[in-house]
Amino acid sequence: MRQYRRIDSFVMNDFVIHSMENSVTELLTELTIAEKVSLTHGSVDPDGRSTGYVRGVERLDVPALRMVDGPLGVRIPGESSTAFPAPLALAATFDDALAVEFGEALGRETRGKDQDVLLAPGVNLIRTPRNGRNFEYFSEDPVHAGAFAAAVVEGIQTMDVIATPKHYVANNQETDRASIDVQVGERALRELYLPAFEAAVDAGAGSVMTAYNTVNGTRMSDHDRLVNQVLKGEFDFDGYTVSDWFGTESATGAANGGLDVEMPGVPMAEMVAPEENTAETAAEGSDVPDAGPNEGLDDAEIPEVVGDGMPDPSTCERFAETLANAVRSGEVPESRLDDMAGRVLGQMDRIGLLDDGDRVEGAIDTPGHRDLAERVAARGTVLLENDGVLPLSDDTDVAVIGPNVDEAILGGGGSSETSPIVETSPTDGITARADGAVTVRRGLPRVEGVSLLDLFAGGPDESEPDGAVEIEAAADAAAAADVALVFARDVATEALDRESLSLPDRQDELIEAVADANDRTVVVLNTSGPVETPWRENVAAVVENWYPGQAHGDAIAAVLYGDRDPAGRLPVTFAPAGTYPTADERRFPGVDGTVHYDEGIFVGYRHFDRAATEPTYPFGHGRSYADFEYVEASVDVATATVTVENVTDRDGHEVLQVYVRPPAIDGVERPERALAGFAAREIPAGERVTVDIDLDERAFARYDETDGWTVDPGEYVVEIGRSARDISLERSLER
Ligand code: BGC
Repeated sequence: MRQYRRIDSFVMNDFVIHSMENSVTELLTELTIAEKVSLTHGSVDPDGRSTGYVRGVERLDVPALRMVDGPLGVRIPGESSTAFPAPLALAATFDDALAVEFGEALGRETRGKDQDVLLAPGVNLIRTPRNGRNFEYFSEDPVHAGAFAAAVVEGIQTMDVIATPKHYVANNQETDRASIDVQVGERALRELYLPAFEAAVDAGAGSVMTAYNTVNGTRMSDHDRLVNQVLKGEFDFDGYTVSDWFGTESATGAANGGLDVEMPGVPMAEMVAPEENTAETAAEGSDVPDAGPNEGLDDAEIPEVVGDGMPDPSTCERFAETLANAVRSGEVPESRLDDMAGRVLGQMDRIGLLDDGDRVEGAIDTPGHRDLAERVAARGTVLLENDGVLPLSDDTDVAVIGPNVDEAILGGGGSSETSPIVETSPTDGITARADGAVTVRRGLPRVEGVSLLDLFAGGPDESEPDGAVEIEAAADAAAAADVALVFARDVATEALDRESLSLPDRQDELIEAVADANDRTVVVLNTSGPVETPWRENVAAVVENWYPGQAHGDAIAAVLYGDRDPAGRLPVTFAPAGTYPTADERRFPGVDGTVHYDEGIFVGYRHFDRAATEPTYPFGHGRSYADFEYVEASVDVATATVTVENVTDRDGHEVLQVYVRPPAIDGVERPERALAGFAAREIPAGERVTVDIDLDERAFARYDETDGWTVDPGEYVVEIGRSARDISLERSLER
């Protein structure tokens, strides 16, 4: 890949103007104001495929820039691509090398669809377990989220595709996401919400998407301090920022605040399907038939249930209409417009769009991608409990039970929805793998997922339930089998948060009935994040299998039968709903249009440690079919060297986790422990491995509003173990 030569950024008129390649600088001198403006906003895609489309400048041979969703696979409505597991499942592998591979595959598919920009990864921190988009994100911990953000960005961009980490910043809920004001302190921003974006920028992200919400009173698309000063200034981001779709308010405010590209750039009403393209449009001489991706969406149709979970396109001021005049009148300096267009051209140049250079070849649905989708789904599977029922022996007679066992759970609703070419359901996967008898009973009507696009098209699905309540029949099948496997799912979507952490419909009742009928009951959860598990003491095993994507059936069968070790660990704490730091309405979903991040830095395990509350399953938890002994460790400020032994006669995967416990200092609030590093390793039966784990300096530091990142002198305890609540070795370190 060509190197993008950088000269240091400089500040002019309060804007961080980034350095440019000579070719880009030359190009800019030739562009008219109107042409430069056309590079800063979306237009209608003549092919009707891209999610976002920046028209090129034909006169100067600048091609269009095509953007496409999203984090679970490439989404072009009406087309197929590999449906990868949810990013939360990927993060559960704690294997960032696998995340680079995942990014490469996403990038390859983006190129395979002849697109240039992938609107992924989603890197917002998991603050509340009810966020409808948690499945698209990575973690409740900033070091963990940052590692995955960087790895996925790196992978995507090796394919000559621009990655777009999103949504910058503090977009941690869907309820009212378009209007909510997030009141958050500087320390929490720095320690929790910004690090994954900073890591993505350090990994070279070419673009960053701004969030819909306001932060401390300012819309993120206009946020001079967080965009100009922090992202472009402190983090030295030299790519372009892009608004979330219809996420801008004032064109001048956005341009001066640091937004480079406004999306989608055209009114909702113009985004119609090709066949709906009207005669008038044609008569007006438009050579652009339409934009298909938002087919069926127009201003009148924002479903009531979504409310301010979606922005109001009519209040969005478009660059196409006002930016040129704002530049001519001096409201937006022309140097700023040059910077905006230059940042876009710079990224186009970096991926080879501005010359006839070789770009990496893309491909869709390759055997390698199918295999990767299966591997990630299996590797991210977390064995939460197991009394020995798992792994299943080949000849076990199983009852496969659950309202959705005949379908692969591909993901949640919204812009990340994918449509695969092949998929396997749990029933398919288990039937193919089992040597014993397989009986299938759904037990309940299908739990329907929410498709945001369907919601827009006609409101919530009120159709007849698919299936009947047959809990007794399910329990009978369970009683007749050696082992009952119950699959349960939640429902999550962009634009809405989950109403509760309970499994929807009567799935808890189904699980209880099956568990009463067979004490060798295994519950497999296909969820977007934590759910409550009131039946957990009555079942023999609990497995968190997330949203596994197209390879659902094959992957879960491989884990249940022990062909693959359950290698996943929890990237989010599982606990009763009332015990999370966001259990209070003021903190989530907020009151009177404002959500108060009063918990500060105490999110996720940091909160549970401080509250001295025992979570149901702690951050980092997960069991292998093997057992491991932590033999020895030595640490210095940058590295922990840990020796672990597999003390069983089967191969297994371990995730070595290193936390730092800071010294207690009067008047200084610190979390009890913070994740500093981790390593996922396959350890053969009976063998020992010694692993060097890089420690993130931030785990030792706190953010001081006056002094910035500060490491207080004192004794730090480096804790090494299997989860935030299962520490095997401790070593001290003076700082
Ligand atoms: C979502 C983004 C997505 C965009 C384009 C927005 O509603 O928040 O994540 O990339 O739509 O589909």
